[in-house]
Amino acid sequence: MSTHIGAKQGEIAERVILPGDPLRAKFIAETFLENPVCYNNIRGMLGFTGTYKGKRVSVQGTGMGIPSIGIYAYELINFYGCKRLIRTGTCGSLIEKYKIKDVIIAQAAATDSGTQMTRFGAGISFPAVSDFYLMTDAVETAKKLGVEPKVGTVFSTDLFYRPTSTEQLMKEYGVACSEMECAELFTLGARYGVQTLGILTVSDEIYSGRETSSEERQESFTTMMKIALDAI
Ligand code: HPA
Repeated sequence: MSTHIGAKQGEIAERVILPGDPLRAKFIAETFLENPVCYNNIRGMLGFTGTYKGKRVSVQGTGMGIPSIGIYAYELINFYGCKRLIRTGTCGSLIEKYKIKDVIIAQAAATDSGTQMTRFGAGISFPAVSDFYLMTDAVETAKKLGVEPKVGTVFSTDLFYRPTSTEQLMKEYGVACSEMECAELFTLGARYGVQTLGILTVSDEIYSGRETSSEERQESFTTMMKIALDAI
């Protein structure tokens, strides 16, 4: 077991889906996986392994924000040998091109997180990018499922409640949406040579103030999960 994950070696698959909410991890495992087995409940951060269309897949909750996903992704990669990690979650879209229920495939992540400064120092800006092959697989998979995914840069912020000036700046640079985890996942992917990706659904339009209804949320959640599970 690692510090925050109570699984034994071999209990976690090389392919891992990473929702923020641990109860979402449970729901995904029970809804989409065959024979799901729970391998972690330390801090209630549930993780499960099962099979999807014959592939061994795990689903691990990460909590919210960069420090939290950073801990789980680090341990999955370095203690359990995970090789393909896809974050699934929601985001707030910043520009009109990205609407409620849209699926956004995160090609790259800008961030305001202090973690990048801690790692690289003030003089270096590291580009947090997803794995090209996993990303193109996800785009193709989405098209086969009849969904036209939108590929874009996301903004991984430490502040859910943030100044609007930050949102304005990101908009000016064509950033699709705001979320809180992708930049750290992609950076760890680069550091440890594993494939990482983010697949997000728009839960709220920051530019219009519109939010998803619960039916819309469920429908777009199912679409996103099918894409992630087929692509991983
Ligand atoms: N910011 C960060 N994370 C989010 C948002 C947002 O606007 N919407 C959903 N998750």
